[in-house]
Amino acid sequence: MLRAMRRKIGTAWLTPTSIEARLFANRSDESEQLMEILEDLYQSHARRYRLGVFGDRGIGKSILTSVILKDFAQRHKERIVRVEVNGRSIGFRRFLKALAGGLVENAKPLLPSLGDKQSLVAKWLDGLALFAHNDQITEGQINTLNTKYGMGAQLSADLIMALKATSSFSWEESRQQTGSMSRTQNVTDDLLHTALKATLQKIHDSTPWMVLVFFDDLDQAYTSDLANMKPALKAILDVDPCVGVVHMRTEMLFDDLRREMDAPFTIGPVDEQGLLAILEKRLDAASPEDRTRFRSPEVQNPLQRVISVTGNPHVLLRWIQGFLGSGLWPAENGAAWCADAALLDVVKRAAIVPGVDDEMLIRLAMIVDRCSVRGKHEVHRADLLQGRLKTAAVQDGKTITDDELEFLIRTGLLIPVDRFREEAGYRMDPLLDLLRPSIATRLRGS
Ligand SMILES: Nc1ncnc2c1ncn2[C@@H]1O[C@H](COP(=O)(O)OP(=O)(O)O)[C@@H](O)[C@H]1O
Ligand SMILES: [Mg+2]
Repeated sequence: MLRAMRRKIGTAWLTPTSIEARLFANRSDESEQLMEILEDLYQSHARRYRLGVFGDRGIGKSILTSVILKDFAQRHKERIVRVEVNGRSIGFRRFLKALAGGLVENAKPLLPSLGDKQSLVAKWLDGLALFAHNDQITEGQINTLNTKYGMGAQLSADLIMALKATSSFSWEESRQQTGSMSRTQNVTDDLLHTALKATLQKIHDSTPWMVLVFFDDLDQAYTSDLANMKPALKAILDVDPCVGVVHMRTEMLFDDLRREMDAPFTIGPVDEQGLLAILEKRLDAASPEDRTRFRSPEVQNPLQRVISVTGNPHVLLRWIQGFLGSGLWPAENGAAWCADAALLDVVKRAAIVPGVDDEMLIRLAMIVDRCSVRGKHEVHRADLLQGRLKTAAVQDGKTITDDELEFLIRTGLLIPVDRFREEAGYRMDPLLDLLRPSIATRLRGS
């Protein structure tokens, strides 16, 4: 019995990075608003609408949007083509390919509902699929398509024909290994982009469909510099599905992309009840024994305190994982769970960065805490490097060195407010908030 009591509570049920619909809780106001916007657009057969979803990292943008778009598409499943593309770490080309491929795959099941127009649209989609899946296409592939659909007059106005009319398409003669000549066309970024845009226009003109694209983490797409990033993002938005729901973390390219949106949709922190509801959903998957122990006052009392210092579901789930995993909860021995060393242990479990210097983390959190103005926890380079604000934290020379700053940014512990503007300052990864003296004080209830 004693051994069973000492066993740590398992943490698999917390799954802090899952956005599965079955885990979704709370956010009923936001869900309703989002549904209403989509319903209006659906009724008006909108040609172009860009809804920007903004909010801090981990606040719940992806799970909310993904769940609502799925529900909405299910509600009108005979007319909605839903595509999700995640921009994280992929370049322009792969992004376009994923979008084109997703469009084809999700539109095909709806074809039978088009009646007479079915083969017209099917041929466009097959044409687009050629561009999505190949870096080079041959005249032979196009002939195969023509044979498949027949050369009927109304079918000749297809995607390939439309592209041939633009300057981006021109056959190149090349000699095959067999010695015969063949004609090929390289699929350039520009050509793929034009094909995608033309197909979306065709779908709008010839079908009652609504193409709903969810561009998740668009601003996380990989590009080396701003000069490449801006035109790429603009081009992606310019393909104009009927409705594009675009996600952006507040700290990235905020103003620039915000201007490209037709409407902003900002989601803020979750209140205490909401956070508890999110936990309850996950707790269903815990073992009965873990569930009981998690609900005991030895866990619930410290949990209440922790919940009161964050409104970010992801941060909370990570911290709880840390407290349970380190055996600090159930907290049978009073306040030991919120002693400095315990909080440092939890933070390091939550924000895993190999080789990080403990003392530097504490110093950083102290400066950030002191520099916070009215709940905004942004620090400027000068605050970190020179203690510009001359707060108590930096009076004893407690500043950050250039090397440390570089390390903190590289590891994501400090997040630029704007990736391309150094002067805009930085935000500390909120997982480190437990190290801020003002937070620790609140946890200790003093
Ligand atoms: N309303 C919610 N219901 C259930 N879990 C949530 C909710 N909001 C956030 N989470 C949890 O927090 C994590 C971060 O949410 P996510 O949607 O990925 O944030 P964002 O896209 O804003 O960075 C999710 O993986 C999920 O586990
Ligand atoms: Mg996300």
